[in-house]
Amino acid sequence: MKFTFIIDSIEKLDPTHDSSVAIMEAAQILGHEVYITTIDLLSVVDGKAYAHLQPVTLKPVELVNHHWQVEKNWYFLGESEFLPLEYCQAVFMRKDPPVNTPYLYATYILDLIDTKKTKVLNSPQGIRGANEKMYALQFPTVIPSTIVTQSKEVIANFLDEKEAIILKPLGGKAGEGILFLQQGDRNFNSLIEISTKQGYEPIMVQEYLPSAKEGDKRIILLDGKPIGAVNRIPTGKEFRGNMAVGGRVAQTDITDRELMICDTLAPKLKEDGLFFVGIDVIGGYLTEVNVTSPTGIREIDRLNNVNLGKQVISAVVNQLS
Ligand SMILES: Nc1ncnc2c1ncn2[C@@H]1O[C@H](COP(=O)(O)OP(=O)(O)O)[C@@H](O)[C@H]1O
Ligand SMILES: [Mg+2]
Repeated sequence: MKFTFIIDSIEKLDPTHDSSVAIMEAAQILGHEVYITTIDLLSVVDGKAYAHLQPVTLKPVELVNHHWQVEKNWYFLGESEFLPLEYCQAVFMRKDPPVNTPYLYATYILDLIDTKKTKVLNSPQGIRGANEKMYALQFPTVIPSTIVTQSKEVIANFLDEKEAIILKPLGGKAGEGILFLQQGDRNFNSLIEISTKQGYEPIMVQEYLPSAKEGDKRIILLDGKPIGAVNRIPTGKEFRGNMAVGGRVAQTDITDRELMICDTLAPKLKEDGLFFVGIDVIGGYLTEVNVTSPTGIREIDRLNNVNLGKQVISAVVNQLS
């Protein structure tokens, strides 16, 4: 089969860490043709979604001393061709956030793909409908105490009830702009002003979960079912667990409570066409639902001796046949 991956520029990807590369590599190993493109190379012509598609061949990574390794020239690109996206059997939308205006326009172009001919993952409507921070609010029974507001007063009242809170910009990723604030902090006003852009943008404010010290668990869900997990533990003086800010990855299992969280999400994820999703769970509470380009596959593969990329591709192939 032919698969297109809409990604950030390939030279910026890390083959030893990025899940997009892991999935592309699995597709190649399973005998499929892999093409790449970027959102700026999408067009609509005669009512159809087109893109400049470039065939890519990857050097698979290898495990050396518990680390993935690959040579510097890890990909080879063929001639780019301007083709309808329906030329491929599946299109993986794997552009990294922020979900800004060009990103949203790309999803409208992907809406034009006839899903009877070509599967699009995740569904462009699903991605548009699911802000990665706000989507969790749809599952109130499994999230920590949370508010969304741009009002300093509302945040002050919330902080009065809690010992400490976490501020999150609604469009962030990889720990960007995440702030810790506790009662009596002399930077309270200033941090709220910076975070809400002087009261012009709502933010998410969550009770601080002390168990974040033990880790922020990433669970990968495929078609609503958990297929693997990895823990990310904050190191040094950092309170955030994200890998991008130095969180240490550690092997972990999925607890009964976490399975319950996955079951709670599954019907809605399916309804919204959110096929490949990464949820974040701290101390048994859902804190984030990553739907754009969740990561974690390389780490889970390495720690659990599995190949999640192959599971993803097999599941897509199954749905197509
Ligand atoms: N409610 C919370 N309590 C304690 N720490 C949190 C909480 N929410 C997030 N964090 C910390 O902040 C990090 C990033 O939060 P998250 O909501 O996953 O945003 P993103 O990963 O998109 O930046 C997490 O890895 C965790 O360490
Ligand atoms: Mg996160």
